[in-house]
Amino acid sequence: MNAKDVIIACDFSSKEATLEFLDKFKEEKPFVKIGMELYYAAGNDIVKEIKRRGHKIFLDLKLHDIPNTVKKAMRVLSELDVDMTNVHASGTIEMMRAAIEGLTRPDGTRPLLIAVTQLTSTSEEAMRNQLLIDATIGDTIIKYAQNAKEAGLDGVVCSPLEAGIVKEACGNDFMTVTPGIRFADSGKDDQVRITTPERAREIGSDYIVVGRPITAAEDPVEAYRKCVKGFLAK
Ligand code: C5P
Repeated sequence: MNAKDVIIACDFSSKEATLEFLDKFKEEKPFVKIGMELYYAAGNDIVKEIKRRGHKIFLDLKLHDIPNTVKKAMRVLSELDVDMTNVHASGTIEMMRAAIEGLTRPDGTRPLLIAVTQLTSTSEEAMRNQLLIDATIGDTIIKYAQNAKEAGLDGVVCSPLEAGIVKEACGNDFMTVTPGIRFADSGKDDQVRITTPERAREIGSDYIVVGRPITAAEDPVEAYRKCVKGFLAK
């Protein structure tokens, strides 16, 4: 049985704004996602500071390059002691295997490694006309997830609505990490394929990634608790 948790997407542009946000949490130590914007702005400093404060970290940098480069980059990231990181599955099975090799520390431990399948911003039309991929989004997601599993990765990032088909194709132990979460009574922002924390759990998400419904809430701690209650309720 996989761990289940709510990950807050800390999409802030500076270290100060991120720490000010995390200071609001006095009782809980939420699992935090650091994406490209924050990492490129604040670098390893912010990763180390959030880790020092006792949070788990998903470093969402979506690596995609030749296998040797990804392996070496992952070796550097492995020293940061994050709990989860990711690559693009479209980099091929060989690249994903190289990523695991680089990420594995001398003592054999490593952060969880997951793959981005097809970005939710890519439409089937763009896949066909620009990328010359003549398959449905669903089939592509399943194939990329199977490739990630074959390479030895722990799971994939996908829409909560796709978590069920990924589990069917790759087994229940293969993790699904799903953004696109909204409360039933709130707006969608720019997300299209969304669902609630409760429904995400039912469909098969292991981790939900929640940004604006928590970071832009009037009371972020209350919104976080609402997510945890909805997602982790038996
Ligand atoms: O604010 P919101 O809840 O929409 O944030 C979702 C987070 O998940 C953002 O950091 C976004 O970049 C990320 N994400 C996503 N869809 C994907 C992959 C990542 O929304 N397919």
